[in-house]
Amino acid sequence: MKVLLLGKDGQVGWELQRSLAPLGQLLALNARSTVHCGDLGNLPGLAETVRGYAPDVIVNAAAYTAVDRAESEREQAFRINADAVGVLARAAAECGALLVHYSSDYVFPGQGSRPWREDDAVGPLNVYGASKLAGEQAIQAAGCRYLIFRTCWVYAARGNNFARTMLRLAAERDSLGVIDDQYGAPTGAELIADITAHAVIATCRNPALAGLYHLAAAGETSWCGYARYVLEQATALGVPLQAGAGQVKPLTTDAYPTPARRPGNSRLDTHELQKAFALTLPDWRLGVARMLTEIHEKGRL
Ligand SMILES: NC(=O)c1ccc[n+]([C@@H]2O[C@H](COP(=O)([O-])OP(=O)(O)OC[C@H]3O[C@@H](n4cnc5c(N)ncnc54)[C@H](OP(=O)(O)O)[C@@H]3O)[C@@H](O)[C@H]2O)c1
Repeated sequence: MKVLLLGKDGQVGWELQRSLAPLGQLLALNARSTVHCGDLGNLPGLAETVRGYAPDVIVNAAAYTAVDRAESEREQAFRINADAVGVLARAAAECGALLVHYSSDYVFPGQGSRPWREDDAVGPLNVYGASKLAGEQAIQAAGCRYLIFRTCWVYAARGNNFARTMLRLAAERDSLGVIDDQYGAPTGAELIADITAHAVIATCRNPALAGLYHLAAAGETSWCGYARYVLEQATALGVPLQAGAGQVKPLTTDAYPTPARRPGNSRLDTHELQKAFALTLPDWRLGVARMLTEIHEKGRL
């Protein structure tokens, strides 16, 4: 099987390089790749890459993910998250490839407390969310076979993430204020990548499984609950901190204004994914604890 991976160095893309490798011949690109174009800003180059490589599966982990910056860079966000995705989808339809793409809970309006189901009405609150929704719609209009995974609150051991930021702040200060009225499930890039590989194999065997699914770790928390859990785990690992879990103070969204509006409810109902692919999604704490142990063992905490 020939697999084309775009966005190989992002949080999810990096883990996909590992999880997709056993599927066959993997061509993994980033925006700076030279022999084949992997730049989602270069629409003709992207179409040429798909035509030239003729993959069986295209996995698009590249995205414009700067949520606040998107408010002032609408055109760029739509080019990468919608126009380029449309190009990939039409090229996938032409060569018969399965297209795998990631979207976001930000396609929803974010109110209430019930986890969002795949067929709930969409209504993005910000430009990033609107661009991700336009990407989904471009795929659905192209007539290719696809797997779209809407996910939320993604973290990875590599690079900067929320947990690392909390640990840095807790080492410098004796108390932290963290938002306590936005809810979701921290979801590891590793989990997303492993499930992607599993779902690709299952969908190649049974094309009826293609479609749009919600993919997030089980359980829920607020950013404040997430921060407290991170500090608890770090304290248990012996990391010296000035502020412990008890010194994390809850803030409301109003107290922390940002250019882009954020949804209060990022919960995703994952029953469809679990049923279709015979999976049980682990609690979010399991992945976060593993990630903290991993970066601690590598001396990066
Ligand atoms: N992170 C989250 O909390 C979250 C939540 C819900 C959904 N998602 C979705 O999940 C997917 C994976 O997200 P992630 O967290 O892995 O994002 P990420 O770490 O920000 O990775 C995105 C990658 O896309 C690359 N990229 C940006 N512009 C590009 C271009 N023009 N051409 C090629 N590559 C380009 C980036 O490269 P540079 O770094 O070099 O720019 C980066 O490596 C995305 O579709 C995202 O929208 C993420």
